[in-house]
Amino acid sequence: MTEQLNYFKWKQQAEAWMREAADYIRWQMHEQLDIKTKEHKNDLVTHVDEGVENFFINKISETYPSHRVMGEEGSFKKIDDLSGVVWILDPIDGTMNFVHQKSFFAISLGIYVDGEPAAGLVYDVMADELYSAVAGFGAFLNGKRLPKLGRVKLDESILSINPGWASKDETVRNLIETVRGARSYGVASLEIAYVASGRLDSYISLNLAPWDVAGGIILLQETGGLATNLKGETLTLLKKDSLIAANPSIHDGLVNRAFGTT
Ligand code: IPD
Ligand code: CA
Ligand code: CA
Ligand code: CA
Repeated sequence: MTEQLNYFKWKQQAEAWMREAADYIRWQMHEQLDIKTKEHKNDLVTHVDEGVENFFINKISETYPSHRVMGEEGSFKKIDDLSGVVWILDPIDGTMNFVHQKSFFAISLGIYVDGEPAAGLVYDVMADELYSAVAGFGAFLNGKRLPKLGRVKLDESILSINPGWASKDETVRNLIETVRGARSYGVASLEIAYVASGRLDSYISLNLAPWDVAGGIILLQETGGLATNLKGETLTLLKKDSLIAANPSIHDGLVNRAFGTT
């Protein structure tokens, strides 16, 4: 139980830092953005992404010197295992939305202890919607408990998926034809949070990094959802992988569909 008390403390602290970081983001959004590219011309990063990551690194190292940070904008390079307490951070998830749309982006954080979930937070900065959970104690949206997910039928479900995958991949086209409707938001952590809250029934990606999923999958676990890679295997959070985050009543159906076994 003392362990869980720590988890609540970390979650509360993380929430306060997220709100502070969000103020910085909302302020910088109207300044000139310093935009760079990373692996390819559409892989964007701004000084705000880096500023938010540095803000968290400073706060976490001052407050919890033994904790480590695995963040997208550089700090991940120091992490090759999940021993101890690791804060897995996406400082801005949905950078392309941030740059072009000024909305639909999130700060995502998963806190893990020896690889086991402790607390997850996903904050939609512009909608001011904070999804949070301490493992084992339910998930909340702006302080209101989210109910456990009810049953849905695969052919009446809503799937979120990047349309880019559909143009290249037959498996993805097959999945889209199976469900009632497909959507795309461009912000993985929030799409997983939407599955946790029932706004979506599933979210699929062929390639995500640990920081895209670490916060959201804790929320999802708390409302009874399932998150695996496309083969139905557990995610390691140490490498890039595919993802099916789904309502439990359709998760296996989607995995089977992806592999053409049904
Ligand atoms: C991206 C977003 C996007 C997903 C990409 C991610 P970023 O994260 O979550 O929705 O399709 O695979 O890389 O780079 O904006 O943090
Ligand atoms: Ca990125
Ligand atoms: Ca991301
Ligand atoms: Ca990011």
